[in-house]
Amino acid sequence: MSPLLTIDSLSRSFGGVYALRDVGLTVAEGETRGVIGPNGAGKSTLFNLIGGHLTPESGTLRYAGRDLGRLTPHVRARLGIAIVFQGARLFRGMTALENVMVGAHARTRHGFLAGALRLPRHRREEARIRADALAALERVGLAGWADRAADVLPLGQQRALQVARALCARPRLLLLDEPASGLRAGEREALGGLIEDLRAEGLTMMLIEHDVAFVARLADRVSVLDLGRHIAEGTPAEIREDEAVIAAYLGQAAG
Ligand SMILES: Nc1ncnc2c1ncn2[C@@H]1O[C@H](COP(=O)(O)OP(=O)(O)OP(=O)(O)O)[C@@H](O)[C@H]1O
Ligand SMILES: [Mg+2]
Repeated sequence: MSPLLTIDSLSRSFGGVYALRDVGLTVAEGETRGVIGPNGAGKSTLFNLIGGHLTPESGTLRYAGRDLGRLTPHVRARLGIAIVFQGARLFRGMTALENVMVGAHARTRHGFLAGALRLPRHRREEARIRADALAALERVGLAGWADRAADVLPLGQQRALQVARALCARPRLLLLDEPASGLRAGEREALGGLIEDLRAEGLTMMLIEHDVAFVARLADRVSVLDLGRHIAEGTPAEIREDEAVIAAYLGQAAG
């Protein structure tokens, strides 16, 4: 399959220390790519570079046949790149539906404020966004929670809500940074099921996750980062056998 994302020689450092060094990888259209690695390996930095929230020191990012160069996060979002950030918070005091609608506004011309002010010419767009947001809630199994305050939902449902918010922007590439962290077993299972459904629908995803078993179940291929380097890539089975991976990560995780 043709690549949706091609990363070449990507580097970024902070205060002279590389967070990501000379990383190259290709994600095929329709693929689910797991990204694993110890704390501080550079996983979130990689997502921030893809989303345009950080600028690279060197290297290139090509997405859907175009060079992302210095495009802003907003433009990248409109091109279909959506991120659920590590530890992302919901808007307090807003309902589940309103939280998702904020995600949809990322791709509209008028932005959230104009929508919130309810200017007449925005009303139709507003109605469409509301319908999209409801559809996204339904897709993640939260339709019945639309009018509940988002911040009182159980953590598992808050994470599903984050996914709904990202889906509402109609992504072609969805980046999930540790969406299952801190969840209880049942909640992890539910979130895993949701990711499986999105994968079956053909959405291209990158999934950062510490639990190798969880990632192995969901990913077509897995990339392993360690100290900013891309030290291995392969199928989940190949990664589990890889000596460098075992030394850098799996050994540590087991011990
Ligand atoms: N904005 C920043 N300013 C300074 N240093 C940063 C910044 N962002 C990341 N770093 C450093 O870059 C390295 C990689 O961080 P990153 O957050 O990408 O790791 P990670 O693999 O996502 O780790 P974790 O599993 O803990 O989330 C770390 O050493 C971190 O301290
Ligand atoms: Mg991180």
